[in-house]
Amino acid sequence: MEYFIASDIPAVLEYTKNFYFLDDNEFSVIEKDNINFFDKELNTIYKKYKTINLNCSNSTKNGYEDFMLKEIFEQPKAIANTINKRIVLNTKCNFSDSNLSKYDLINVEEIYIVACGTAMHAGLVGKNIIEKLCKIPTYVEIASEFRYHDPIINKNTLCIFISQSGETADTIAALKLAKGKGCKTIAITNVIGSSITREAHFSFYTHAGPEIAVASTKAYTCQIALLCLLAIYIAEVLESTSFDILENLKSELLSLPEKIELVLQNKEEIKKIAKQVYLEKDIFFLGRGIDYAISLEGSLKLKEISYIHSEAYAAGELKHGPIALIENGTYVVGILTDNELISKTISNLQEVISRGAKIFVITNQELFNNTFDLVFNIPKTNSLLSPILSIVPLQIFAYYIAKEKELDVDKPRNLAKSVTVE
Ligand code: G6P
Repeated sequence: MEYFIASDIPAVLEYTKNFYFLDDNEFSVIEKDNINFFDKELNTIYKKYKTINLNCSNSTKNGYEDFMLKEIFEQPKAIANTINKRIVLNTKCNFSDSNLSKYDLINVEEIYIVACGTAMHAGLVGKNIIEKLCKIPTYVEIASEFRYHDPIINKNTLCIFISQSGETADTIAALKLAKGKGCKTIAITNVIGSSITREAHFSFYTHAGPEIAVASTKAYTCQIALLCLLAIYIAEVLESTSFDILENLKSELLSLPEKIELVLQNKEEIKKIAKQVYLEKDIFFLGRGIDYAISLEGSLKLKEISYIHSEAYAAGELKHGPIALIENGTYVVGILTDNELISKTISNLQEVISRGAKIFVITNQELFNNTFDLVFNIPKTNSLLSPILSIVPLQIFAYYIAKEKELDVDKPRNLAKSVTVE
């Protein structure tokens, strides 16, 4: 008999699939052939192990140079695994793994999405989708802020907590606070049995498989896909959006894995761009609406693994300060996917071009007579879902810049995968 102690499942998946989970204030005594569990008063607790059916090859590089590259390339499959079983055409999405019912949703007056880091950025995209489909005001908050400002929430507030690991200390504390104030709580996580799932009223899993690289990639796109499905389900239950619009969105979701493959096939194009910019000191990301949310995540990916100073701005905010930082040769990435806002963002990009900026644009539109230095095209999809496609080139961009700089992309300095302390 062998026992292993670990803070995360993938760490020991190579050796076992059977896991005991310790809750707060619980202890375990391990002997050669025996294991016992106790509460804080040292009363014995009976625990049964859970079998986690994850594939161990998910925790190895499988021929890829780094986990991050492997995980970027796993996105088509990860998204398919997350959505396929839930999407049922011509009838409601399948959320029968929980009891989330009309009774829980009918009185919801507002929704809070609370998370940290990349998961919070997924929440920003989710807010847009939920508001459009469910017509319920939705707010996104950073967990470490939410937990300390005494949020005005009550039994008619639905709080959604997103966490890849399910172990982030601030997110768990925020969840406990919301429960204490009587809110209904939903956890979205990638790790079965993680702490967040033991606290929330309802838990839904992304099926991205273990994410090892510190910089989150596949978990992020799966979180957005799952938030979209949840929004569709709520809209179906509340009848807040027409049947045709929701059915169209489901079909678009199903076609995303194929479209991501198309983006991945052009990775060499991005690699060439990365070779041109890896020595930059500052890189700015600009977008409006949903493209601003993606700018934030693209900028975070870049700074996390390449250590290049980077900032994301809502393009319309540029003239209120940041434009002072633009000088001859400053590198700016523009995201142009939101049809209704593209002409506005283009005119903001012209403003920085006239001050000497070099521009790399990611778009799903045909741009005529443009003066941009580099343009990378992504496939078209429903505008609510475009973030799942536009983030992929930005992940690859950050990855190849870090590789050019010969950095450890999987384990960037000063960062941890799971932040279990405040
Ligand atoms: C750390 C990681 C990030 C992650 C954040 C939230 O900072 O380095 O990649 O987005 O924690 O983690 P969670 O597991 O809660 O999604």
